[in-house]
Amino acid sequence: MAPPGKPQAVDGGAAQSPPMHAPASPPVAAARPSLVLLAPMEGVLDHDLRDMLSRVGGIHRCVSEFIRVTDQLLPARVFLRLMPELARGSRTPAGVPVRAQLLGSDPACLADNAARLAELGAEGVDLNFGCPAKTVNRHRGGAVLLDEPGLVHAIVAAVRRAVPAALPVSAKIRLGHRDEALLLDNAHAVADAGAAELVVHGRTKLQGYRPPAYWDRIGRVREALAGRAIRVVANGEVWTVDDARRCLAESGCDALMLGRGLVADPGLALAVRGLVAPGWAQIAPLLPAYAALVSARVEPRHRAGRVKQWLNQLRRRFPEAQAVFDALRTLREPAALMPALQAALVQAAAAPAAVEPARTALAEPA
Ligand SMILES: Cc1cc2nc3c(=O)[nH]c(=O)nc-3n(C[C@H](O)[C@H](O)[C@H](O)COP(=O)(O)O)c2cc1C
Repeated sequence: MAPPGKPQAVDGGAAQSPPMHAPASPPVAAARPSLVLLAPMEGVLDHDLRDMLSRVGGIHRCVSEFIRVTDQLLPARVFLRLMPELARGSRTPAGVPVRAQLLGSDPACLADNAARLAELGAEGVDLNFGCPAKTVNRHRGGAVLLDEPGLVHAIVAAVRRAVPAALPVSAKIRLGHRDEALLLDNAHAVADAGAAELVVHGRTKLQGYRPPAYWDRIGRVREALAGRAIRVVANGEVWTVDDARRCLAESGCDALMLGRGLVADPGLALAVRGLVAPGWAQIAPLLPAYAALVSARVEPRHRAGRVKQWLNQLRRRFPEAQAVFDALRTLREPAALMPALQAALVQAAAAPAAVEPARTALAEPA
């Protein structure tokens, strides 16, 4: 596999077929992003899955799951547990940078924790203003903060001041909490406070994860911040190369953050960049590799669940993954996971659906 960021270029971006659920839509403006980020996904995109997806290639940077800050300076071991990449220069084994994401509402405490992350070698600090979870919001964290642009500004400014000037600070927002009334206030708050990057998930907290994502509203943010030293990154509902083109065209952005689409189709980052993307033959070996990592780290009773969770997304894109998912559906016994997975992969590879030729080789982790 090609080294991260330097995969083999071909004019094959459109070769990626859409996920099974995706309606066919006509291609629009041909545009490719110059930056592709892997989204943070609490409980899904942990260190092990970031490792797997960054091995495939095409991802310029990952973000950790959120690290919750309340009223204390967290010890180094907590940061290292939630983001083990800190022990290897804030990079995945394949060498892709990982930015640490903090979630909280106390500017001073977030600043102290950001400073500690800087000491631990974090590539940068990202601030979460988008989490819709009730427990998080009840404790004044995540998307509810979008009701208070003054506090958003105070948090970003405090974190910016607390870390070395060369360390990037970014923020991730939704369009708003209940509505979009404060969207541009929040965008200006983040920019005025000195953030280098603003990721906009094109939905309010109330809209949850219900399609569509309003890419044109992300465009309003980009226009409002045009000429400022901040990059706007578009996020939400990009599952295919065609979605990416439309998102780029409607938002006017040249940077994308991909979440569920990339978990479902690990070659999507390569494909949206017009690079050769892997087929099932290259993705399948990642499953036992992932199961081995999960078996080394996760409690036995949760191991099969983690592998099935990824398969559940992969089956949107690959019929073979559906067959493997079906074979493991009722499996609970941790010791049976690896042999059952290996057997199901062999069966899926022999099935008629699995004739798709290899499109690119996968890189070995550095
Ligand atoms: C299970 C799950 C967990 C998520 N966890 C986080 C998180 O920790 N921090 C964050 O900023 N966004 C989080 N998000 C939001 C995603 O980063 C992203 O904004 C959203 O899924 C839309 O992008 P997508 O359509 O490409 O998935 C999460 C989303 C999901 C589905």
